[in-house]
Amino acid sequence: MENPAPAAVVVLAAGAGTRMRSRTPKVLHEIGGRSLLVHAVTAAEGTGPGELVVVLRHERDRVAAHLADHAPEVTVADQDEVPGTGRAVQCGLEKVAAATGTVLVTYGDVPLLEAGTLRELVAAHEQAGAAVTVLTAKVPDPTGYGRILRSQDGAEVLGIVEHKDATEEQRGIDEINSGIYAFDLAVLRDALGRITTDNAQGEMYLTDVLAIAREDGGSVRALVTSDLMMVEGVNDRVQLAQLGAEMNRRILERHMRAGVTIVDPATTWIDADVTIGQDAIIRPGVQLHGATDVGEDAEIGPDTTLRDTEVGAGASVLRSHAVLAEIGPGATVGPFSYLRAGTSLGAKGKIGGFVETKNARIGEGAKVPHLSYVGDAEIGEGTNIGAATIFANYDGVEKHRTTVGRHVRVGSDSVLVAPVTIGDGAATGAGTTVRKDVPPGALAVNAGSQRNVEGWTLRRRAGTAAEAAARAALDGADASAADAASGTAEGHSDDSKEQGQR
Ligand code: UD1
Ligand code: CA
Repeated sequence: MENPAPAAVVVLAAGAGTRMRSRTPKVLHEIGGRSLLVHAVTAAEGTGPGELVVVLRHERDRVAAHLADHAPEVTVADQDEVPGTGRAVQCGLEKVAAATGTVLVTYGDVPLLEAGTLRELVAAHEQAGAAVTVLTAKVPDPTGYGRILRSQDGAEVLGIVEHKDATEEQRGIDEINSGIYAFDLAVLRDALGRITTDNAQGEMYLTDVLAIAREDGGSVRALVTSDLMMVEGVNDRVQLAQLGAEMNRRILERHMRAGVTIVDPATTWIDADVTIGQDAIIRPGVQLHGATDVGEDAEIGPDTTLRDTEVGAGASVLRSHAVLAEIGPGATVGPFSYLRAGTSLGAKGKIGGFVETKNARIGEGAKVPHLSYVGDAEIGEGTNIGAATIFANYDGVEKHRTTVGRHVRVGSDSVLVAPVTIGDGAATGAGTTVRKDVPPGALAVNAGSQRNVEGWTLRRRAGTAAEAAARAALDGADASAADAASGTAEGHSDDSKEQGQR
């Protein structure tokens, strides 16, 4: 009795949504990373219904395909050419096998409605033994909505009158019909068989069921909600943005209450399905999309976008963009890097600044610190990829893989031409183009050997600042050579620069 599950939920989504002015059906527009319809279906599912039916008509096949992808457990019902919410529910009930119990009716374009509110509606409805319980709200501007007509003492609902059918006096009523109801299933089936299209819009009004149920001696109740946004529908793109912002605000609040630091909620966008561990810090300008999971103590941002990406505990991602990537615990990414699909960075690994990766497994503690492209690659643990290394994975026709072993040191500005394998503990010199496999422990070098043409600037660039600088240095060198000969200058060696940056 605490949390009674309804026999069925019928979600109405047959309307055209013309005010969206869109080629995309209204209920497929997204906020918080899900379509409006999937939000509605998720709330309905949260009540644990015996049956879940969505009523379609406008762009039926496209919406049905979307449901098959995202909510395959849903039954689709088709509304015919008879218009109105009453007809929509009647068509929906044709797919409901149950004969008795409570049935909820909700809308596919009301995205902020929560399962908890629906469960309260079912509980209130069943405790009162009501024939119908309608979810209502008092709003500052009730224009366009159906108005709730109450008995003198206000306890009973007499019926609902649509705005277009209402008298001036009735239009003054500020309690509106949200369009969300709990019905006794048997009462609903019977009453729907008796409603007509005799009204201002020539439609079968679901709202007419309330007066019929009451005339039949049933009790008709209202549950008033003070959370107006929760029952608000999307009719145009202005409302889409407003409800999107409100949903985001609610999602951020949920995470903050669960122990996540969100430094600047005004510039942070987090989709409904994202999970974030305790004590993670989300800095300004972050967007977390899709099925992104952020581990405990991780730091994201500022200015970072992650889609369908997994971030391990204690990892940090700074000013970067990742899609379908895995970032291991304690790993660091950024600033200014782009992790594309299939990137997997091992625990305590590093993808530094201005690096692009794709379909690349980078081992534990391995590092790609600066200015590299790593595509279709396997990099072993503890390996360091020198600055500006390119994994040349595409031969113009096909993509190939590169395998770099454990504890390898790839010199700066190397080009690894796939398919190629560099063995464990091997190294490449700076500027090496690796076209052949490198055995474990070997050093690969193929940069042309260096030739210094002495005095070239003095002869070919006479009169320039370069010549003057060179002369000054050479004169100074002569002087210090003389000092060295007399044993006063400190010598220094210059032969350790081969591998460049680290
Ligand atoms: C309806 C209610 C009104 C309530 C308002 C709340 C009726 C007669 N009126 O108004 O009291 O205040 O919702 O938003 O019910 N739909 C179908 N098939 C149809 C018509 C509509 O599936 O033939 C669906 C729409 O896709 C939408 C929902 O029902 O999801 C509401 O339709 P809409 O036209 O917006 O409702 P109103 O008639 O404005
Ligand atoms: Ca509406």
